[in-house]
Amino acid sequence: MTTRSSLTIVLAAGEGTRMRSSQPKVLHPIAGQSLLAHVLTAAPNGAGAALAVVIGPDHGPVADEVKRVRPDAATFIQRERLGTAHAVLAARQAIARGADDLLVAFGDTPLISAATFARLRAPLKDGAALAVLGFRAADPTGYGRLLVEGERLVAIREHADATPEERAIDLCNAGVMAFDGSKALEVIEKIGNANRKGEYYLTDAVTVVRDMGLEAVVIETSEDEVRGINTKAQLAEAEQVMQARLRQAALEAGVTMIAPETVYLAADTTFGKDVTIEPFVVIGPGVSMADGAVIHSFSHIVQASIGKNASIGPYARLRPGTSLGEGVRIGNFVETKAAVLEAGVKVNHLSYVGDSDVGANANIGAGTITCNYDGFAKHRTTIGAGAFVGSNSSLVAPVKIGTGAYIGSGSVITRDVPDDALAVERSQQTNREGGATKYREIKTRGKAPKKGG
Ligand code: UD1
Ligand code: MG
Repeated sequence: MTTRSSLTIVLAAGEGTRMRSSQPKVLHPIAGQSLLAHVLTAAPNGAGAALAVVIGPDHGPVADEVKRVRPDAATFIQRERLGTAHAVLAARQAIARGADDLLVAFGDTPLISAATFARLRAPLKDGAALAVLGFRAADPTGYGRLLVEGERLVAIREHADATPEERAIDLCNAGVMAFDGSKALEVIEKIGNANRKGEYYLTDAVTVVRDMGLEAVVIETSEDEVRGINTKAQLAEAEQVMQARLRQAALEAGVTMIAPETVYLAADTTFGKDVTIEPFVVIGPGVSMADGAVIHSFSHIVQASIGKNASIGPYARLRPGTSLGEGVRIGNFVETKAAVLEAGVKVNHLSYVGDSDVGANANIGAGTITCNYDGFAKHRTTIGAGAFVGSNSSLVAPVKIGTGAYIGSGSVITRDVPDDALAVERSQQTNREGGATKYREIKTRGKAPKKGG
């Protein structure tokens, strides 16, 4: 437990031209969350942990993402991109406020963990002025090399400035650093730009610290944790690393997956006890699965809460705003969106349930469609508890099906059906002149048949 205060500065002002995208680099997602969100979530949080993000000019959407993920963070704009040390100084105001530890991380290095931030801070407590996160690179090309003498870090040499001997070193700078907060500003302000690119390199902090007679150290981590993302290929590699982590965590939490390598999870997916996920399932952001939920193969789920013992798919698509109660059954080729299905509802085959509220134990027959869109606006469908909707029915919203009502197969329901009514409404036709709508047969008669009788 550290009681030291911290300021974490996340650098995200880069253009990311190599992504070949109109979207700022740090907004690209892995595991359903932006690169930036991953870093902001791993950074120290809570009392005494301040956060600042340095973004480029015209990066409004990046500022919005910062607000969404960490409303406590301050954003600073770096108007000219003159290097990583220059970028840190864009947040000078925040640094000047003072913190025991000053951490610097990159917005395009999303796999960093909270534990590593903590590990990097530890040497500061013991008197080091600077701790640098290092890793052994399979291919060090492009990275800054860490020059060490015994335990001590002497300098970081950027690839462009390195001699052939220095380029042979595989111990590289991950880009994450921790400074003694009382000296950080003085150190970073001393950094010049006498190098091949004429940039202010944050990596020169090491020699500055050494010239001041202070200590700089290296903390090593795995390459997988510090992969920087500059291209779509690297984005895909990072996705694989993150998916492997999420699958492992899910298995450890007791989720059953017989082919975990085929299941895609999101960073925020939550599971109850005894959840089963069959092969080839894709889970997007905002999904929770309660105890005993079973997700059958080839299902695609985004922003949905799945109740206890619910069964989904195979081949189901749950879209944002889906909320399923206990024991709900969603079968093959069923799509739901902005739909609340209470306990025991069954939608077993070939249906679309959108903008809908479905009461407990209602049975939605094969091929039922809630016609929520009239070409201009979306409307809601309400289906009462225990209602039975016959196969191949269209429920034209806004419409209410009463509790316990029985809708005959092939109905096109355009007006509310009372509780317990038996409704058969068929063959809606538009006359040849394109005028008024006619119904050939509309019946609302008697009581719905009692189930099982
Ligand atoms: C940097 C390190 C290098 C390290 C590597 C790890 C420096 C000088 N070099 O090199 O030692 O091995 O990361 O991935 O620090 N940024 C700004 N403003 C700027 C310049 C950069 O905000 O003016 C941001 C970028 O958006 C990015 C980060 O800083 O998030 C790193 O910049 P980048 O240009 O990718 O540095 P590298 O050449 O990769
Ligand atoms: Mg980089």
